[in-house]
Amino acid sequence: MSRTVASKWKKTKALLESSRIAKVIPETRKFSSEALKEMLAKYGSVVAKPCSSAGGHGIVKITRKDYGYKMRYKGKKKKTGKFSKLLRALQRLQRKREYILQRTIELASIDGRPVDYRVKLVQKGDKWKVTAVVAKLARKGYFVTNICQGGDLLKSSDAIRRSLNINPQRKKRKMVKLSRKSAKILKKKFPGITQLGFDYGLDTSGEIWMFEVNTSPQ
Ligand SMILES: Nc1ncnc2c1ncn2[C@@H]1O[C@H](COP(=O)(O)OP(=O)(O)O)[C@@H](O)[C@H]1O
Ligand SMILES: [Mg+2]
Repeated sequence: MSRTVASKWKKTKALLESSRIAKVIPETRKFSSEALKEMLAKYGSVVAKPCSSAGGHGIVKITRKDYGYKMRYKGKKKKTGKFSKLLRALQRLQRKREYILQRTIELASIDGRPVDYRVKLVQKGDKWKVTAVVAKLARKGYFVTNICQGGDLLKSSDAIRRSLNINPQRKKRKMVKLSRKSAKILKKKFPGITQLGFDYGLDTSGEIWMFEVNTSPQ
């Protein structure tokens, strides 16, 4: 039995079977030029992520603009006019790796730096124990919060208060509840897993969104 499941797509698909969890997962599709076109028309902005990668590596944010498209990758920005040019630029970045597309969530931020949250769970007997709820603050000029991309760790309560000016306890409890429910679902599908790390974003109006689940969290 495998302790880790690499494919973001497989894990997301498993979680989408629960309507309660599906509600907090931003629309996610396998990468294709049609899906990209449709999702950009619908949401104005999407992130493209490698299906089996971590640490924020290879993630690109694409936003529709009046002049065409803006791409953000690491600290860099690039503008393209035509859709065909955008596709070519993306293909160069993707280097034949499998990618998924996800609707972009506008994260609440601190000093212009987006914040998101990691909830860690470890299996103890037939229960899942919460071992941490921490916030990650993106490096200035970045949209990914991963520590290995220069993000900073923060106390989750402080981060919620500073980015949204609301009482943090309710949001934290909701993230923990969603994580426990998701852990049960994933355990049924992938019996070998023993630890999980969930990445959540709070958007500018405080809504909770689940970005991904890691089966070998740092
Ligand atoms: N749909 C999204 N909208 C906005 N930001 C996102 C989205 N998905 C990911 N991110 C940002 O990118 C980071 C890395 O994405 P994630 O899905 O966790 O992949 P990885 O496995 O590389 O950590 C997230 O922590 C978040 O800061
Ligand atoms: Mg992550």
